[in-house]
Amino acid sequence: MNVVQNDLTQKYSKRTILIHWITAFLILALFPLGKYMEGLEPFEKMHLIRIHAIAGMVVFFLTFIRTYLFFKSPRPEDINTGSSFNDKLIVWIHNAFYVVLFLVSLSGIGTMIVGGYGDALKAGSYELIKSPESIPPLKGHGFFSFLMIVLLLLHIVGVVKHYVLTKENTLKRMI
Ligand code: HEM
Repeated sequence: MNVVQNDLTQKYSKRTILIHWITAFLILALFPLGKYMEGLEPFEKMHLIRIHAIAGMVVFFLTFIRTYLFFKSPRPEDINTGSSFNDKLIVWIHNAFYVVLFLVSLSGIGTMIVGGYGDALKAGSYELIKSPESIPPLKGHGFFSFLMIVLLLLHIVGVVKHYVLTKENTLKRMI
């Protein structure tokens, strides 16, 4: 068994911790909501699209603040796992979250505009929503949200694996 010792008293800033958990909660709600909406007819999903878009924009906005904090507020040292491959993987996964969060949000905004969702909500008329095949950004949005769930799973597996192997609860740095 590894006996890696990391300083778990070092924590992320309060604002980063708050944004981390709000974002995690919103992603876990937005993904199934998006998948659910996919199976509905336009007239059935107008109010859900509004909720999805508002919550998604909150994630987008929080990601901007989080990116600013990434560079501006002190961060705890990277976790040491005893494997240089795992150490690098952790940093890559953490950084990939930022990129993918921006890609999901931007493709969502693109879908709203190109797919006529914005016009439909403004006019209160679901007929303005285009068919999914004629909304190219929707394909990107579906793909990037899937990628985000893959990252999320890897992220959780990493935390659990590290705990099982070392008994270090790295979550202490994020609460
Ligand atoms: C940030 C986290 C977000 C997640 C995890 C997420 C997730 C999803 C998923 C899984 C879908 C179904 C995609 C598919 O067809 O395969 C979807 C659809 C959609 N999303 Fe998002 N989304 C997010 C943010 C946004 C944002 C910021 C907007 C716009 C402001 C947005 C607008 C839409 C729209 C218009 C659809 C199409 C709904 C439909 O007609 O079925 N999303 N989203």
